[in-house]
Amino acid sequence: KILSCSPMFSILFLFIVLHFVVKDVWDVTYTSTQVCAFKGATAEIRCTFRYPSTINGINTRVVQKFWFIRDENNEPVDLKTESEYKNRVQYKERLSEYKFRFITNDPRGKYSDVPGVTLTVTDKIIFINSYSNWTELTCHNNCQLPDQSSYIWYRNGHKLSSDEQYLHLNTFDSADSFHCAVKGYEQFPSPTVYNVFFLEYKFLKFDAPKLPSVSVSPSAEIVEGSSVTLTCSSDANPAASYTWYKEDVINPLIYQNQHFFFSILPSDSGKYYCTADNDLGQKRSESRTIDVKYAPKLPSVSVSPSAEIVEGSSVNLTCSSDANPAASYTWYKEDVINPLSYQNQHVFSSILPSDSGKYYCTADNDLGQNRSESRTIDVKCE
Ligand SMILES: *[C@@H]1O[C@H](CO)[C@@H](O)[C@H](O)[C@H]1NC(C)=O
Ligand SMILES: *[C@@H]1O[C@H](CO)[C@@H](O)[C@H](O)[C@H]1NC(C)=O
Ligand SMILES: *[C@@H]1O[C@H](CO)[C@@H](O)[C@H](O)[C@H]1NC(C)=O
Repeated sequence: KILSCSPMFSILFLFIVLHFVVKDVWDVTYTSTQVCAFKGATAEIRCTFRYPSTINGINTRVVQKFWFIRDENNEPVDLKTESEYKNRVQYKERLSEYKFRFITNDPRGKYSDVPGVTLTVTDKIIFINSYSNWTELTCHNNCQLPDQSSYIWYRNGHKLSSDEQYLHLNTFDSADSFHCAVKGYEQFPSPTVYNVFFLEYKFLKFDAPKLPSVSVSPSAEIVEGSSVTLTCSSDANPAASYTWYKEDVINPLIYQNQHFFFSILPSDSGKYYCTADNDLGQKRSESRTIDVKYAPKLPSVSVSPSAEIVEGSSVNLTCSSDANPAASYTWYKEDVINPLSYQNQHVFSSILPSDSGKYYCTADNDLGQNRSESRTIDVKCE
């Protein structure tokens, strides 16, 4: 009796289960214990299983059957319920072993078989060997393809006649590009290699960029007006193309691995990140904070109340200046040598006519000092 189950998973796996009923035999046979698939392709994992037709005189009925990859509390977990397999099976870099389990109406009537089926998802790799006047390309993948498998080579997108795994080149045409595929799997070609004659003795593994790293030069404190370079780098093959961004700014700053500030401004402070892209993916770096330090800008002075100042009233002089790091302030009265106070605010709790005069403040930080304009206070007598 042959029973064909409908596919449990929509995209990557098609499970075909055959079931035979045989007296007193429990087993699961995997049609193939090694299954290889090209990334993005459909893989078929199949098995057949057998079980006793009766247990203790009761007819056996299969009440559940599923594939699994791991146990939880010593019970296999149905692959269908695992989040990463729910709608499609994800590409796994490592070999994964899939095992089949079925459960019958008898409480002890459960069976799975170990080891299961190993699924390999192939990497796209091209080896390049350059000799003095010729170059050999090898179309390679992890799968154990049948020996008679034939390969397809493409030069500048056009099929070549060679169907060998190796392609020998002896024309020094650096403008040509090459890629390969396995016959029958043309829809899963290798990435394209460029400049093969400049790549000597290289083993080329194609992959999405690695997490880009960001470096800032100079690495010391960044001061307004200095020149600063942000550099993004990532390992990638094919080589990555880079883009620089500033957080909260929609448009990219530049489509290069370096972003230069010839004379950096305080408004350039912020968080920067880059992305590295190639045909196989994109990665975004962590954000790097650029904090541009600058000497105090021209301090502004405010007088409160702003209306006429009458003897005996309370008056505040306030100094403020934009600075990074924050400024410290000092208040002066013109023609008085000693400072009035070392605060941003100078308070007259009861102002006197003799307090009339010109006042100014200074703002200081590590990078310099700036002095406000003088402000005239004219105290009216009561
Ligand atoms: C490489 O160069 C040698 C000597 O210059 C020549 O004999 C040989 O045929 C060349 N091989 C190829 C593949 O062009
Ligand atoms: C004071 O600030 C003004 C503008 O904010 C600036 O042009 C000037 O160079 C500063 N002076 C000093 C001594 O830093
Ligand atoms: C002066 O500043 C203090 C706080 O620093 C505030 O309580 C007071 O109301 C201010 N006086 C005037 C006249 O603005």
